[in-house]
Amino acid sequence: MQRRAFLGSLAAVSLFTHSGFAQSTATRLLAAQHRQQILPSGYPDTELWSFDAAFPGPLLRARQGERLAVTVENALPQPTAVHWHGLRLDNRMDGVPGLTQAPIPVGGTFDYDFALPDAGTYWYHSHAKSMEQIERGLYGPLIIDETDPPDVDQDIALIVDDIRLEQDGTVASFDNFHDLSHAGRIGNLWLANGQIDPSFPVKRGERLRLRLISAANARVFTLGLQGFEGAIVALDGMPLAAPQSLPDELVLAPAQRIDLIVDVTTDDEEAFLITFERDGGYAIAHFPVSGPSRASRGSSVVLPPNPEFPIDLATARTATVLIEGGAMSGMRAARVDGEELDARELAGRGLFWALNGVAGRPETPLIDVSVGESVRIGMANNTAFPHAMHLHGMHFAEVLGDGTLGPLRDTILINPRDTREIAFQAHNPGDWLFHCHMLAHHQGGMGTWIRVRG
Ligand code: C2O
Ligand code: CU
Repeated sequence: MQRRAFLGSLAAVSLFTHSGFAQSTATRLLAAQHRQQILPSGYPDTELWSFDAAFPGPLLRARQGERLAVTVENALPQPTAVHWHGLRLDNRMDGVPGLTQAPIPVGGTFDYDFALPDAGTYWYHSHAKSMEQIERGLYGPLIIDETDPPDVDQDIALIVDDIRLEQDGTVASFDNFHDLSHAGRIGNLWLANGQIDPSFPVKRGERLRLRLISAANARVFTLGLQGFEGAIVALDGMPLAAPQSLPDELVLAPAQRIDLIVDVTTDDEEAFLITFERDGGYAIAHFPVSGPSRASRGSSVVLPPNPEFPIDLATARTATVLIEGGAMSGMRAARVDGEELDARELAGRGLFWALNGVAGRPETPLIDVSVGESVRIGMANNTAFPHAMHLHGMHFAEVLGDGTLGPLRDTILINPRDTREIAFQAHNPGDWLFHCHMLAHHQGGMGTWIRVRG
């Protein structure tokens, strides 16, 4: 386990600034430009776009069964909209410009107001030009507490990200065809809660709830926890029926979340959240450990389930999604607004990816079903890159090889040349986006939608 120098010439750093989020009960979020020190002190600060002059934005927190009402005010230089990632909410509040709402114009506001049926770890982020707006800082954590939350000593939300900054502190240009046609925008600096290797003091033997959230544009993190023992208790907000004991590697694709309940078990002076890279593991956050060990709490925790919508595989309506495009896979043509374009014409429009031969959001939905029907979607990744497919509005389960269902998720990673099948009950009426959360891929054409008739 090592520390590393970032951005070539920067020295290894360890910042001991505070890492707590401003907790917000405020019902207003101002999206605007602001400056914040991201690079170590001595380096220039960074102009970001953020919510309420904080990066990440304030922690929004409510209790399961309550409503959340947030007025978003747009003081950015371009239109925006806010998506409440992973919430099974009212379709009109889903924050997708052109599908569920008109974008919030510069100087305008939008009143979001929705019920919160589920507990869990979620996040909110811009859903307009999201490759740019999320990268510039327009995201924050969203926690819905169980009515009877598990007993822990600390509850820590950790949003991991990789931002691409220039040496002068500016956010690197978005004018980059390589990002659009390859893995996506991969950063050159790892952040946890907007900071390089932040510090979270803990006591030996303490029990922590760690809520890992990835706000990365495209990087698939492989994370590890060193100095802890415990279990994964929820994925993408949804409790696991049986907690899974802490594995050595936690794969966290863009937009995914992992909730862990862990005890600080190390005898060392520090515990770590590590990102595993090709050349070794590096601290992305660290936990100075103090005090004599307190008595172990023993048994692991099972979170209470959220409302369930059973899936009937036998009667499910089916759809398939062929994922094509990107460098090294030779997509020859795709349809855009009903017109067949060759690869050169597509590239001229910044389009490099297609779902079922269509680049960009199609006019007709991938599937059109009635509320209560079950749906199965088989996906084949015929490209050289991984994709993190995200369904809005409903959680799905993976249909595993033996025909059983995996845990509920809202974002699934599909490796190159791999296939996956998901299933869900279409319980939430509306038009729901289904897209790659590698944001350059979404911008480059990887998005479709489904219709659930009420
Ligand atoms: Cu995290 Cu379409 O969103
Ligand atoms: Cu993708």
